[in-house]
Amino acid sequence: MSFDGQDPVRAALEAAIRAPSPHNSQPWRFEVDGHRIGVFLDPARILRVADPDWREARLACGAAILNVRLALRAAGRNPVVHLLPRWDVSDHLATVWVRGPVTPAPDDVALARAIGYRRSNRRAFTAREVPVWVREALVRAAAEEGAHLAVARRAGELDELVREAERVQRDDLAFRDELRRWTATDGSRDDGVPAAAAGPGPAWPFDRKPLVAVLSSYTDTRPRLAQVRAGQALQRVLLRATTAGVSVSLLSQPVEIPALRAAVGRVGAAPGNPQVVLRFGYGFAAPATRRRPAAAVTRHPGDD
Ligand SMILES: Cc1cc2nc3c(=O)[nH]c(=O)nc-3n(C[C@H](O)[C@H](O)[C@H](O)COP(=O)(O)O)c2cc1C
Repeated sequence: MSFDGQDPVRAALEAAIRAPSPHNSQPWRFEVDGHRIGVFLDPARILRVADPDWREARLACGAAILNVRLALRAAGRNPVVHLLPRWDVSDHLATVWVRGPVTPAPDDVALARAIGYRRSNRRAFTAREVPVWVREALVRAAAEEGAHLAVARRAGELDELVREAERVQRDDLAFRDELRRWTATDGSRDDGVPAAAAGPGPAWPFDRKPLVAVLSSYTDTRPRLAQVRAGQALQRVLLRATTAGVSVSLLSQPVEIPALRAAVGRVGAAPGNPQVVLRFGYGFAAPATRRRPAAAVTRHPGDD
């Protein structure tokens, strides 16, 4: 994405909609009032079976908020962010004030540029190992946003949990029905996961040198601020990997099942609350998924 000379608010919204979301459900909407951007969770787009507590939707919206912050900085504006500005309104996740001007740090510009070419890559990765300096940069990226990324020493155990979660979900009719509605689409919809973006399976036995990590938050209590922050951390990790040429896929199945979620924390040696499992490696290009246009998910209440 290019940010030079663009209207900062527009650039921020274009960046926001590129965030990852479960099944590409895009559970967000935005309100723009002058120099203020409101980020809202859209309850109509929650995955009611896989995500009954809206946890993954908050992660996705957190990722969108990080994109807004990075795009504004890259456009030379200072974002002032207030998370959960109204604790009595559970779907109002952030207000971002567009202040400025600022000279962006080169790293902010690099991460902002990566927003446009980051992809979930579900394909098999090559045998090339992710070097230590990249691992360390990924861990730092999570820490910068107040979350924890723990590289799993026993990837095989996590693999077992993913398979167990798959078995549980395969036996769940409602889950299967929801999955069918959102995935293996023909690519003509502007949401959902097209068949072309699918991989051979959710786990990683097909990777020769799997690097698997658990992203956790330190708390997870109401009003779930930690989940919004974990979403920002998730996106910073994904963008950091993208700038290093490292592919990533997300695995949320074992975290979606309460009994397995605790086990994920133990395997990942992760403190606190596992939010998502990530698989990193060097892969072949994955296709982009579509998005609803920014205009379709943005209101300008002042103009009503
Ligand atoms: C919280 C969250 C959980 C996700 N869980 C999975 C998952 O379990 N399996 C998977 O293949 N992709 C998962 N994804 C990736 C989404 O399917 C992906 O972001 C979406 O299809 C958009 O594609 P993109 O990431 O390439 O832009 C998840 C994404 C988020 C934000």
